Amino acid sequence: MNDIERIDALRDELNRHNYNYYVLNAPEIDDREFDMLMKELETLEAAHPEHHDPDSPTQRVGSDINKGFEQTPHIYPMLSLANTYSIGDVDAWFERTGEALMGQKPTVVGEMKFDGTGISLIYEHGRLVRAVTRGDGEKGDVVTDNVRTIKSIPLKLQGTGWPDFFEIRGEIVLPWAAFERLNAEREAAGEALFANPRNAAAGTLKLLNPSEVGRRGLDAYLYYLLGPELPYDNHYDNMSAARSWGFKISDAMTKLETIEDVDRYINYWDKARKELPVATDGLVFKVNSLRQQLNLGFTAKSPRWAVAYKFAAERALTRLRFVSFDVGRMGIITPVANLEPVLLSGTVVKRASMHNEDIIRSLDIHEHDMLYVEKGGEIIPKITGVELSERHPGEPAVEFVSHCPACGTPLIRVEGEAAWVCPNKYGCVPQIVGRIEHFVGRSMMNIDGIGKETAAALYSHGLATTPADLYDLTADDLLVVDGFAAKSAARVIDGIAASRSVPFERVVFALSIPYVGETTAKKVARAAKDIDRLMGMSADELAAIEDVGPRIAATIEAFFADADNRRMVERLRAAGVCMAIAEDEVAEKASDILAGKTFVISGVFAKHSRDEYKAMIEAHGGKNSGSISKKTDYILAGENMGPAKLEKAQKLGVPIIDEDKFLTMIGEA
Ligand code: IVH
Repeated sequence: MNDIERIDALRDELNRHNYNYYVLNAPEIDDREFDMLMKELETLEAAHPEHHDPDSPTQRVGSDINKGFEQTPHIYPMLSLANTYSIGDVDAWFERTGEALMGQKPTVVGEMKFDGTGISLIYEHGRLVRAVTRGDGEKGDVVTDNVRTIKSIPLKLQGTGWPDFFEIRGEIVLPWAAFERLNAEREAAGEALFANPRNAAAGTLKLLNPSEVGRRGLDAYLYYLLGPELPYDNHYDNMSAARSWGFKISDAMTKLETIEDVDRYINYWDKARKELPVATDGLVFKVNSLRQQLNLGFTAKSPRWAVAYKFAAERALTRLRFVSFDVGRMGIITPVANLEPVLLSGTVVKRASMHNEDIIRSLDIHEHDMLYVEKGGEIIPKITGVELSERHPGEPAVEFVSHCPACGTPLIRVEGEAAWVCPNKYGCVPQIVGRIEHFVGRSMMNIDGIGKETAAALYSHGLATTPADLYDLTADDLLVVDGFAAKSAARVIDGIAASRSVPFERVVFALSIPYVGETTAKKVARAAKDIDRLMGMSADELAAIEDVGPRIAATIEAFFADADNRRMVERLRAAGVCMAIAEDEVAEKASDILAGKTFVISGVFAKHSRDEYKAMIEAHGGKNSGSISKKTDYILAGENMGPAKLEKAQKLGVPIIDEDKFLTMIGEA
């Protein structure tokens, strides 16, 4: 077998293993063997660039090139489904459909209603050519690059009998396990949590970074085949054919002949759906025969040949005991409903978040109201309504606190946001303790043996008010804290010592700069390279860093302008904490060709990513900036440069260069 034949054989083999693993859940080989085949293919492909194939399994990782999303009209509009909420309503639909078909009882197909985000996939000659979101139903965003990272979606079809052109629709979902993993990471990073897998799936699909999309573990179930030439005259057989081409079609899809079959299906899945690995919010019933579908037709919004049955959200009614207000590490005040304990989806609920003041207002919650608590797809129970008939007359509306419940400082409301914040950063105990707790966390300085309680105890014993104080602790100091013995104290001291070698990017994250989560910290640390540069950067320079918008840039600037924060940084530095990117991570200085020149990068590039261009500018002695001013020397423009930027550049007479011109400037053309 020559190299080219081997490449083809490996591509087929890896496609088959991907299918076994991601669609059938039945891998034939272990991860290590899979990785070895993948390595072999990568090596051979690198040696034979002439045999490149964008659909090769090696190409699924996704690139880092940022592209905005282009919009495209749907070939067939993406409609929604009529909803029903009871078995009786579904039965009535079934009867009505039979009558509309002049008494020919239809066979219907029962399916899960997956709770994710709708997608339309276009295949030509057996290859995925385009993936489009639902959008407004008429047109959607082209998200092909992101969808290509979803391993259960075939890039090249297997089997036979597929039409040369067809569309297949389905739902992109984030399985429960991946959803929980993602939220745990976000929580550790101090980032906002996704309320449910649907939001997480939709948010992930719209990320500009396909490799991040690939990492998050999306999956896809397909449920609708469209096109001018379909293999069969009925939905069930078409979907079964699609299954044989490599698509993931739910095993729950079942043909149902009678109203009793339909009722049994509903009763079964009402419970069994809880065991599924992905979120579902109901069932869908579709008339099987395409000819009958055609006869039944559509209303303006939805097909008459299909109906959705929505599962009842799990909901409980319970009495509000009182509202408390939590103070977070950043000073944000969260109202919490403290409830009479109530059983909901298998767990006892005593507290439920009310998120912010606007929610209390819009639900008009009064003291001691009977409240509806729901879990639905959400992880944290939430209050969804008030049972007015149970309200005691004269109970006043719940008032949001005006002063911090922990320290008494008057609260301030951040402009444009629903949150109230306690501004007393350095005197408010939950904020002080929260910052220490964050600092020692696993994704930050990773100091074992200090949790929430220890952080609080260190503070109350006067041993730590800022993370910098940790580096002055001795084992003897710790022995006065409840629960510490010689051994556990020594472990904490060792952990603190070891944290001196934690990389700079995690140190930046550990500092508790508002809005700076793990990813942003990494980007900021890599761009600044050391703490002195970072502390000296203007909001404008900060905004030039990828993923740092003007709001985050302003907060970072303000954070380092604060004398207390600067003092903390100096103490951490004196204690030996790492304050610069390690030598081998710093890109080598290539030249001084761009010394004294300031660049603004705008648009989408073909040859390198924006980050790479930024790094090149710096490697050649130039500076990056986020906005155009008189000080800008060049605008490095790709495709789709914003019109406002273009106008400003023209007005100020700043030269606009494209990537080829830039590469020539630095001698890399
Ligand atoms: S069929 C014309 N089948 O629910 C009918 N939709 O409310 C096309 N959905 O936009 C839809 N599971 O995103 C269909 N088994 C399933 C579904 C399903 C989830 C979503 C889909 C659609 C929405 C309709």
